[in-house]
Amino acid sequence: MRVLGIESSCDDTCAAVVEDGSIILSNVVSSQIDIHKKYGGIVPEVAARSHIEAINPVIEQAMIEANLDWDGIDAIAVTYGAGLSGSLLVGTLAARTLAITKHKPLFPANHVIGHVYANFLVDKPKFPLLALIVSGSHTQLVLFRDHLDYLVIGKTMDDAVGEAYDKVARIIGLTYPGGPSIEKAGQSGDANRYKFPKAQMPKREIELPKSWYKTPDNTSQNILVSNGEDENRVNGVYDFSFSGLKTAVLRCVQKEIGKDFDYPSYKLAEHLSERQVADFAASFNKIAAETLVEKTLKAYNEFSPKSVVIAGGVAANQELRLQLKQALPIEIKYAPINLCTDNAAMIATLGFYLSKLQDPTNPHEVKINPVLRM
Ligand code: KG4
Ligand code: ZN
Repeated sequence: MRVLGIESSCDDTCAAVVEDGSIILSNVVSSQIDIHKKYGGIVPEVAARSHIEAINPVIEQAMIEANLDWDGIDAIAVTYGAGLSGSLLVGTLAARTLAITKHKPLFPANHVIGHVYANFLVDKPKFPLLALIVSGSHTQLVLFRDHLDYLVIGKTMDDAVGEAYDKVARIIGLTYPGGPSIEKAGQSGDANRYKFPKAQMPKREIELPKSWYKTPDNTSQNILVSNGEDENRVNGVYDFSFSGLKTAVLRCVQKEIGKDFDYPSYKLAEHLSERQVADFAASFNKIAAETLVEKTLKAYNEFSPKSVVIAGGVAANQELRLQLKQALPIEIKYAPINLCTDNAAMIATLGFYLSKLQDPTNPHEVKINPVLRM
């Protein structure tokens, strides 16, 4: 089965064709990074306008590279959330139009779940599966019992980790997107020069989905080890917080260069030496990765999943990959970087699995959901 995937939730216009959820026939990404770089972040209106210009050529290119005409496409999958409304509208409108005019079944896809499914293009991870999802807008630990049968066991209470990378990069004068800039600048830095605190998160009770409840004869494939009196709840300690870390970096930079709280933050970087920038980048990169790895290891030890995957833009981070590899007693097959950041191959792959479990959606009824959750 060949699925055309369309993704336009943020600042990349993407289309891809994937066969049977595993073979990439084409994977086209038109990046807007150079446009947004000069603003230090994404400008939603500019992103939407750029998507309008790029969407048709990108889809056409994906069809050409896959060497297919429309008869060769069995279904279309499109990201309908979460993301920027103007951006999502462009991709979903293109997908709806194509589904109607080319008579193809349409599967709306959740962008964040799509990131997890990028890993099915590399290897077929086994269930139960633990996914660490780390992007510009999400930081989550999710347990999958089977395809699309999951429980979010940890999430960020404030900033996403990618957002923290982007904000810290701005404070120390590095370009957008912050993740790759921080990683590069930090290569020559001392990761132990600046000490930043790790957020301590309170316990949060998590209710299990009904289908995960333990049955009296214990036939359910519940993978959760319940530690309370109520067997249908678990005590979560897997939440994240990154806004404190970002503020800690800001305060440390202010202190380092002898400037007060009210000094404009966009001017701070002018006073930093190249060495200081490298050391700040390395120190932040190390602690951000450590925070993610600690919680992932804890969840691994509690739930003993058969596989662990990392997903989303921050999954491209080499320090995170290295620390995870050292911490976990399980082999992790990492996706190549172009499948970690936004792409449509992951959406086409998710579309393939959606088509096995769900009916297609009437293209006239597909609506965007900018705040869609897992
Ligand atoms: O998944 P993604 O491409 O878009 C969203 O869905 O948000 O993730 C973008 C985020 C940005 O915050 C970017 O700074 C971060 O991923 N990122 C990285 C790296 N490459 C991208 N963070 C750390 N290290 C990287 N190498
Ligand atoms: Zn993404």
